[in-house]
Amino acid sequence: SAGLATTRIGTSIICLKETESTNQVAFRMAEEGAAEGTVVIADAQSAGKGRLGRIWLSPPGVNLYCSVVLRPAIAPMAACQLTFLSVVAVARTIESCTALTPQIKWPNDILINGKKVAGLLNEMNAETEKVNFVVLGIGVNLNLDMSSISESLLRHPATSLLEQGGAEVDRLAFTRALLVELDRLYDVFLREGEGPVRAEWLERSAIKGRNVKVSQGEREFVGMVQGVDSFGALLVQLSDGKVETVLSGDVALI
Ligand code: BTN
Repeated sequence: SAGLATTRIGTSIICLKETESTNQVAFRMAEEGAAEGTVVIADAQSAGKGRLGRIWLSPPGVNLYCSVVLRPAIAPMAACQLTFLSVVAVARTIESCTALTPQIKWPNDILINGKKVAGLLNEMNAETEKVNFVVLGIGVNLNLDMSSISESLLRHPATSLLEQGGAEVDRLAFTRALLVELDRLYDVFLREGEGPVRAEWLERSAIKGRNVKVSQGEREFVGMVQGVDSFGALLVQLSDGKVETVLSGDVALI
């Protein structure tokens, strides 16, 4: 485990020069029986996957692209709870490696000064009753020179830790710190359930009690965020007092 002080994550670490997508490689390895804690890291991705079928820009050398295989004994419904893990791990790591303050945007974006700096994509292989494995995909813009990226390629305003902090981030140190945080959080998750990690997620996301506009395709509504349920859905209270459970969509503070 390359001297990592972890118990589960990083039992084996595969580093690739370039691949289509670390999620894809990790998924295939997991299908072939790769152990829990297997990590796949690439220097560049030729077809990095984002949420909703989008592309994740993955130029070589500057960013972190990694995927982690987990095999928790949980039901498929509960697998979305693992998103809290990667979000909180990335937020903690940004804080420990830089002087920056990350914000969490539901469901799984990490922003700095309102611009996206990291993205997470979990993919699951499950049967009706149980999860076989989950791949946690994590992409963090570390030293990306934003002026090299055409705005038209970006769906949302994006940034990098370099752009925000004005200093290069040591990629190896960041990666190690991230894997250590993930290992700690996963340990808490297995011992105590999703509660503690969700609580930290909620505290960091700073949306509790805030008014938001929710867009779900054609449908839009406003309300006040009450919290997030154990399945990761946002609970939004409407003006008539009813509470909507928001499983997907875009949420903006108003
Ligand atoms: C998003 O749309 O916000 C999610 C982006 C996830 C990107 C990471 S980079 C490492 C891993 N491999 C992929 O192909 N995607 C994830």
